[in-house]
Amino acid sequence: MCGIVGAVRAKNNVVDFLTQGLARLEYRGYDSAGIAVKTAGNIERVRRVGRVKLMEKAAQAAGLNGLIGIGHTRWATHGGVTEPNAHPHMSGDLIAVVHNGIIENFEAERTRLQELGYVFHSQTDTEVIAHSIHREYTQNGNQDLFAAVSAACARFQGAYAIGVIANDCPDTLVAARMGCPLLIALGEDDTFIASDVSAVIAFTRRVVFLEDGDIARLSAHGIDKLIDKNGINTKRDVKMSALSLASLELGPYSHFMQKEIHEQPKAIGDTAEVFLLGGFAAENFGEHAAEVFQDIHSIKILACGTSYYAALTAKYWLEDIAKMPTDVEIASEYRYRNVIADPKQLIITISQSGETLDTMEALKYAKSLGHRHSLSICNVMESALPRESELVLYTRAGAEIGVASTKAFTTQLVALFGLTVTLGKLRGLVSDAQADDYTNELRLLPGSVQHVLNLEPQIVAWANRFAAKNDALFLGRGIHYPIALEGALKLKEITYIHAEAYPAGELKHGPLALVDNNMPVVVIAPNDSLLEKVKANMQEVAARGGELFVFTDLDSEFHESSGVNVIRTPRHAGILSPIVHTIPVQLLSYHTALARGTDVDKPRNLAKSVTVE
Ligand code: G6P
Repeated sequence: MCGIVGAVRAKNNVVDFLTQGLARLEYRGYDSAGIAVKTAGNIERVRRVGRVKLMEKAAQAAGLNGLIGIGHTRWATHGGVTEPNAHPHMSGDLIAVVHNGIIENFEAERTRLQELGYVFHSQTDTEVIAHSIHREYTQNGNQDLFAAVSAACARFQGAYAIGVIANDCPDTLVAARMGCPLLIALGEDDTFIASDVSAVIAFTRRVVFLEDGDIARLSAHGIDKLIDKNGINTKRDVKMSALSLASLELGPYSHFMQKEIHEQPKAIGDTAEVFLLGGFAAENFGEHAAEVFQDIHSIKILACGTSYYAALTAKYWLEDIAKMPTDVEIASEYRYRNVIADPKQLIITISQSGETLDTMEALKYAKSLGHRHSLSICNVMESALPRESELVLYTRAGAEIGVASTKAFTTQLVALFGLTVTLGKLRGLVSDAQADDYTNELRLLPGSVQHVLNLEPQIVAWANRFAAKNDALFLGRGIHYPIALEGALKLKEITYIHAEAYPAGELKHGPLALVDNNMPVVVIAPNDSLLEKVKANMQEVAARGGELFVFTDLDSEFHESSGVNVIRTPRHAGILSPIVHTIPVQLLSYHTALARGTDVDKPRNLAKSVTVE
């Protein structure tokens, strides 16, 4: 969370880049935004509570102009959403800093600095970084910004990505990374830093991903000096980013969430292509994947949020098809528990961003306990989780900007299904003929998803009724229970309607008490072996005056009646039905949010990428 940018340019005003870059990173946090620019005079700073646009207007009005600067868009952790807490933070007129992450020992460091006479103007942990660097920069009189940042970083515990400029050092930007993403991008006469590549892609595709512990000194001509966590001079490879600019633009859509929902046939097809072209081969997951897969006897999946629900869905496939015992755990819980490690248990992490701190720490914890094998399923190339994992499969969803995850989820499911069949084949449980059937199902999937997207007008009619509600229940059974969970999460995230999901059979053990004619009950009821059971559970709701909103399949014998609304998705999609049934709950949330007038892409209090605990 929080996005940082910075640039040293030889000719052009840095403000264009800073504001454009921040607008691209706004999905990472949107409580406040700010920039600091070394002008012909001093460093000048503009900060505003709220969106980047507001800050940009203020920067234009102030006529900010300079060749070097830093910027930040904030998701508040330490200290409220106020202008004094907005970044960049400064130490006097001399040092300006932007920071993503958390300095865990900031209280001790603040006390030390206060005793040295530093006065704090914010409640943030970041301000200690500014003063700490100021102290190192000035105390020996050598005014070496790079050395000062290195010395200050040695004092910090926690996670950070920082960009630093000094008033008397107009051609040097220092960047440091520990636990939070940061890259350097190399232009012709410009050098940039950014939390992710979306901020720089309109300017250059040549990027260098910093590693944990790296500190770099940058000028307009590139990287002048780079040291690793041991203080040794080092070089990092320059990579060409393949991110498309179009994936960052709205095009004809009103919101990124809408665009991303509609991109799913393509995203799913692109992700499935790995298996359609390469077969269900272990090598899709890495060169030595076959050996790894043969060395494991169970799986543990660690993830957060929507990715966790993808994991819950995959458990059904993995145990059913590949007969692989699978545990699924929320990463933030796992990492603080005494677990029994098993070197033959494959640790899978699932993450859209690849940088969720809890998931990352959970993986490190698993490794420290003796887990030998790890696989990351991730949508962002070169992000932290794949880099920390032995094996990787990238989903090909393209950039996902809307905070509420949509195409990342369905493509994670495709990847996990591919993994399941791969393991099943390797273990002799899936014959070639069965694998061919699964291939065909994957081939048909984008079409089925498109068919559901075409149901949008019917879903809009439901959404208009949901908009007036305060609560909703979501029910599903078996492999569709995680889809009910995902539906409830989507609804709360973007509409702020309180929503909960239950396995339909659990209704009578408590939640049924909530059901009355004000409680809409959404049911995921595909035409599978549990349909009759789900119908019985729906009777329990109808008998208590609850109104049912049922998503079922074209071929299920299920009819509308008073208090029972039905929308039919295409014929039952078999084993891939959870993917097809995700689409209507996404659309229901999206259109309910529209009807309620909430900020669909940037729901209150949330951020897309959570790099703090
Ligand atoms: C945040 C996002 C969610 C996402 C979760 C996990 O809470 O708002 O959409 O599901 O983080 O993110 P990851 O990048 O690890 O999948």
